[in-house]
Amino acid sequence: MAKLWSGRTDGKINKDADDFNSSISFDSKMYKQDILGSIAHATMLSAQKIISKEDLNKIIDGLESILTDINNGALEIDLNAEDVHTFVEGELINRIGDAGKKLHTARSRNDQVALDLRMYLKDESKFIEKQLLTLIEVIYNKASQNIDAIMPGYTHLQRAQPISFSHHLLAYANMFKRDYERLIDAVKRMNFSPLGSCALAGTTYNTDRNMVASALGFDGITANSIDGVSDRDFCVELLSCFAIIMMHLSRFSEEIILWTSWEFKFMELSDDFTTGSSIMPQKKNSDMAELIRGKTGRVYGDLMGILTVLKGLPLAYNKDMQEDKESIFDGVETVKKCLTVFTPMLESAKVLKENMFKAAQKGFINATDLADYLTKKGMPFRSAYKTVGEIVAKCVSENKVLEDISLEEYKQISNLFEEDLYKEISLSTCVEKRISEGGTGPLSVKKQIEDLRTYVENEKNIY
Ligand code: ARG
Repeated sequence: MAKLWSGRTDGKINKDADDFNSSISFDSKMYKQDILGSIAHATMLSAQKIISKEDLNKIIDGLESILTDINNGALEIDLNAEDVHTFVEGELINRIGDAGKKLHTARSRNDQVALDLRMYLKDESKFIEKQLLTLIEVIYNKASQNIDAIMPGYTHLQRAQPISFSHHLLAYANMFKRDYERLIDAVKRMNFSPLGSCALAGTTYNTDRNMVASALGFDGITANSIDGVSDRDFCVELLSCFAIIMMHLSRFSEEIILWTSWEFKFMELSDDFTTGSSIMPQKKNSDMAELIRGKTGRVYGDLMGILTVLKGLPLAYNKDMQEDKESIFDGVETVKKCLTVFTPMLESAKVLKENMFKAAQKGFINATDLADYLTKKGMPFRSAYKTVGEIVAKCVSENKVLEDISLEEYKQISNLFEEDLYKEISLSTCVEKRISEGGTGPLSVKKQIEDLRTYVENEKNIY
């Protein structure tokens, strides 16, 4: 394919160098944004009397027909082209002749690619934002079905205090809510049009950059043309958001992997989201959760990749920047795929409440409550802590739990103990008593669910 830039040279280039230089295999996915950006640019050129109305009409018809033909498969993207921008422009010239040659007036591929990428990422971010809202919804619905499920809460992966399973789930809903807000915030900063920065210095034509920006739904234009073409902060920011989403999905996946093991048995995944072993007939493996945990590393890699590409780049555009796309596209696709699988996997999972409760009955997870009991009866907390520690040690040596010790024995240890201690250390009391705001008590959990529900419903109205 003839090079658009032939002139200074004959445009012929070594075959391997040509393949090496080409980005069409991965940037072709921006064809829609490239065409819409070009239509907005041409419209502005005509409004500013830089090209004629006639030429504009030809350009718009040509670009629209290219878009339709690519969409319906009538036009195949030529993988020999250098990139999507040269492909679309070349095809336009093939279709409409000289008018097509005017499209690139007052524009460079440098501002064009920066524009296309921002437009593409805005669309993809919106998709991921909606996926996050759906996930939060699935989490609070699952939480509202399991308010009565008591499980051991852990610190150091050691049984710590009884909590409601809903409360544990809602911790993740809060993480995904922050992820959602972080993404919106990053998009806000990205939502400025670089078009009109041209190669780096701006242009001698009387362009109207704001007209293009508002036609394409941007909040404004980038303030400095050199920054406009060399800034890829938005890729770094988005990949940081994606890395954090993946980190949260990975922690959740790790817990699901533990919970679905025979050792825990707190949860069973639907057959739709598990696999078997080729040799061990009894196996039901949580492969999806494991893959999500694994793919987290890959998205971290994408983030490190783009940071490293940008490090040390002199201003303004350098071809190194073509490397931005594979990492950001990979990050987008990976996060989308992971959310697509994770959300229904969680929704269809069965919560094994009895097993959770049984696990909560072991491991002295009510020991804090016994210490609080003594404290409320007048013993200083530090002394109560020590006394209960000794009772736990005695139980361990006698293979008992706190509920097995008789009242007489308790009274020998401290006469502050009375019959009501057993109710105080029952697991349901331990959970119900945690009345502090944001705590595991049922009122707090219900409030968390309602707050999240209101939040998600409001946000959904925006789309
Ligand atoms: N394919 C290029 C990229 O992705 C487009 C910009 C080319 N600009 C240039 N000055 N060679 O970065």
